Amino acid sequence: MAVPPASWTILATLRWTADYFRTKGVSEPRAAAEILLAHTLSVSRLDLYLRYDQPLNPEELARFKALVIRRRAGEPVAYLTGHREFWSLDIRVTPAVLIPRPETEVLVAAALEAARFYEENEAGRKGPGEDQPKTGNRKPETSSFLGLEVGVGSGAVVIALATELPRMAWVGLDTSGGALAVARDNARRQAVLDRVHFLQSDLLAALRPTAAFALLLANLPYVPRAQWERLPREIKAFEPPGALLGGEDGLDLIRSLIRQAPQYVKGGGWVLLEVGDQQAQQVTALLQQSGAYDRIESIKDFSGMERVVRARRRNAAG
Ligand SMILES: C[S@@+](CC[C@H](N)C(=O)[O-])C[C@H]1O[C@@H](n2cnc3c(N)ncnc32)[C@H](O)[C@@H]1O
Repeated sequence: MAVPPASWTILATLRWTADYFRTKGVSEPRAAAEILLAHTLSVSRLDLYLRYDQPLNPEELARFKALVIRRRAGEPVAYLTGHREFWSLDIRVTPAVLIPRPETEVLVAAALEAARFYEENEAGRKGPGEDQPKTGNRKPETSSFLGLEVGVGSGAVVIALATELPRMAWVGLDTSGGALAVARDNARRQAVLDRVHFLQSDLLAALRPTAAFALLLANLPYVPRAQWERLPREIKAFEPPGALLGGEDGLDLIRSLIRQAPQYVKGGGWVLLEVGDQQAQQVTALLQQSGAYDRIESIKDFSGMERVVRARRRNAAG
């Protein structure tokens, strides 16, 4: 057990807490101590080191200790502070939403590429299947087109895309009313709420099946039933199971979405799906079997895992 310091200055508190977390097996002990102390004092992590010899007052110390106890019991840091950085945006999170993961930024990057490709190659077409000659510097006739995210959670993904693609409008769907409230709040804070329309929906059920969307993306629950028990307690006990569990093989929702999506996506538009470990091949096969897609490829995350499967909706003529 770490020895309590003579005086609870910022630096002494950080050292004590990091040691305490380390002995209790809390992951990333130093970072957790810094984030929780910065949150308690409403300062940045850098400020902690600029004011390292400032003592905590009894009220600050009591609030900080309460957070340390909750972290020690497994509660994720992001739920304790109510914030998580994603795509360099400050995203508010509550226990109603999954904490956005760094690897999901791969989905954002792949969607950005697809949107730009669509704008260059498809947005100027007059109708699905109508090929235009690619001569001269053809500019899209209209650059305002629609994207759709299914399962928005905190809204991190659709908000990141809306900030990057200011001429696109978006629809964001989720079954969870609690998640939609958080997503709307985040969209308002990031000043994109006027371009993202949030709706409660079981997959695409709330939308009329018209091929309106240039992009459809989803990070749906994909944890297979058998893997649930093996998830860290930090996830199992605190994050919403409805954001994680994907049925027997994890692919229940992804399978349904692949079946439904062709009715909603324009020819030449793109479908992007985040997948779990070892699922990319199966998802690729499902997209191939549907016959509605071409250019199917998987995209790796920074750890080399196939994280996103991307496919293009075939043009009616193609
Ligand atoms: C893995 S989380 C992803 C959240 C967010 N997009 C992200 O990447 O951080 C999955 C989300 O899908 C939602 N969801 C689960 N089943 C759904 C369904 N049938 N239709 C729509 N959304 C669903 C959950 O409520 C949850 O918010």
